[in-house]
Amino acid sequence: MCGIVAYLGNQDAYPRLIKGLHRLEYRGYDSAGIALLNGNIQVYKKKGKVSELEAHSAQQHTPATLGIGHTRWATHGEPNDINAHPHLSGNGRIALVHNGIIENYDLLKTALQKEGHTFESETDTEVLVKLIQAIQDRDGLPIEEAVRLALTRVVGAYAIVVIDQQDPNKLVAARKASPLVIGIGKDEFLLASDATPIVEHTNKVIYLNDEEIAVLHRSGDLEIKTISNEVQTPYIQQLDLKIEMLEKGGYDFFMLKEIMEQPMTLTNCMRGRINADEGWIHLGGVEEYASRITQAKRLIIVACGTSWHAGLIGEYLFEDLARIPVEVEYASEFRYRNPIIGEGDVVIAISQSGETADTLAALEIAKEKGALIFGIVNSVGSSIARVTDAGSYIHAGPEIGVASTKAFTGQVTLLTLMALDLAKRRGTISEGYYHRLLTELTLIPEKIKRVLEQDKKIQYIAAEIKDHTNALYLGRGYNFPVALEGALKLKEISYIHAEGYPAAEMKHGPIALIDDNMPVIVIATNKSAYDKIASNIQEVKARKGRVFAIVPEDDETISQIADYCIEIPETEEPLSPLLSVIPLQLLSYHIAVMRNCNVDQPRNLAKSVTVE
Ligand code: G6P
Repeated sequence: MCGIVAYLGNQDAYPRLIKGLHRLEYRGYDSAGIALLNGNIQVYKKKGKVSELEAHSAQQHTPATLGIGHTRWATHGEPNDINAHPHLSGNGRIALVHNGIIENYDLLKTALQKEGHTFESETDTEVLVKLIQAIQDRDGLPIEEAVRLALTRVVGAYAIVVIDQQDPNKLVAARKASPLVIGIGKDEFLLASDATPIVEHTNKVIYLNDEEIAVLHRSGDLEIKTISNEVQTPYIQQLDLKIEMLEKGGYDFFMLKEIMEQPMTLTNCMRGRINADEGWIHLGGVEEYASRITQAKRLIIVACGTSWHAGLIGEYLFEDLARIPVEVEYASEFRYRNPIIGEGDVVIAISQSGETADTLAALEIAKEKGALIFGIVNSVGSSIARVTDAGSYIHAGPEIGVASTKAFTGQVTLLTLMALDLAKRRGTISEGYYHRLLTELTLIPEKIKRVLEQDKKIQYIAAEIKDHTNALYLGRGYNFPVALEGALKLKEISYIHAEGYPAAEMKHGPIALIDDNMPVIVIATNKSAYDKIASNIQEVKARKGRVFAIVPEDDETISQIADYCIEIPETEEPLSPLLSVIPLQLLSYHIAVMRNCNVDQPRNLAKSVTVE
């Protein structure tokens, strides 16, 4: 989703802004632009990729040491050069980039039109820059004060950065519900939607809080106040991010790199948190609120997309092992349906980015109603991580591919640790089973390596599926959410329509679609329902469907019936999603590559969804 980058210092801003925009590409966007201040403001904007903006601006721009840049993911107005950011005030004095949605833009626009302002674009952002101009013109205010007063009239979400031609030594930035990070370098400031454009310049950062406005001066001074004009003390933090984490490291796509990293990322997720020999699990976030979480009447998991699928596995884990009732909710539905939440509830938000607007809003509602809110988050320092009462990071490192892979397995690992910890505390699990699960969990990274070794075979199977227009994914129990996740992976990056279904539920609808043109991918690793899944496969075969099955190593029965099989190592059933999802990730990756799709940046999708 929209990405912001800005520079103020003594170096040439242009290459820093362009590089920053490339770093932000992974968020998903459809146009890009920059504004440079050198005497006056020059704006360059282009529909399409950052490389197209570069081709358009590289030769023309003049050197500048102050500038702002933006990647736009269209909300108001189609993706085109005019709607791209930065937007200028009518007098050309102010330039602004924005991430978020100004909900009352129509009202503000009508009022500004009455005062004689005209509009070129269809965006809500142009309304904001013209509102700032109107306030500045009327009261002769410095830019930061005009911005602050304008924001008191705005309803909605924003992260903005503003420059003023008559104040060339200043960057003004503000946020509400959309992220913004300030990087403090040597004689320079870099500002961005996330730390990825900042890390190669400095590791000293400030995460701007909601309704704060920052003024960065060329002298190195930095002031932060609230929109209601209260001075704040800046809190400087160290970034724990390495530049190599943002590179492809020899892989063709970030998605493949991230799939291959999973043995390492899951090891990192478990490091210091589990000891199978001594039989303990330590999750700092849980320990802090141990009695409230252990005695929770109900767990409510809120999330979106792939994180929601991880949440569904969480439901199986918490109910099966810790015997706590669980509800798993799409954050976007939960927030608008007047949910019943009590003080005995614990609301768990799962989010890779930690910035998903709907998940954040759902948490605010839960907090207001007195529930304890817990975050399972990847992105360190993100909004969800900061707003929750307690939480645990999954430590997967930056995930750049839009299709989530290592974050998903990290989330499931964290949920497994948490469910086992709660099961032990609540006495709902036998000693023997607890120890078996702990031991098996620590073996998962090695077992994932064995699944990854089957890449060639999975590539072969991908070639069999790539030309189809539909696919069906079936799973039962713990592996039903894996079927949903497999189908999501396929549709989001290869644009093949796919549906995930509980295997037995297939009879109530999807079976009507099955013929020799319908690939059916079945996750058949559950010991408890093995025979039942075998029967479901027979039902598909009887209708000439082509079955691609994920089976346990040395499987005998299903391998005889299915057309193609991928064998994965045996494990305890509650842990099986951590293995069965891996071939599905690789399958969708290879199919997307074979179909020449942009694997890391699929059309219309965004990595970090900061608008609702
Ligand atoms: C977007 C991403 C998905 C992600 C979902 C939730 O749709 O493309 O990969 O699962 O948002 O994001 P979150 O950051 O909250 O996990």
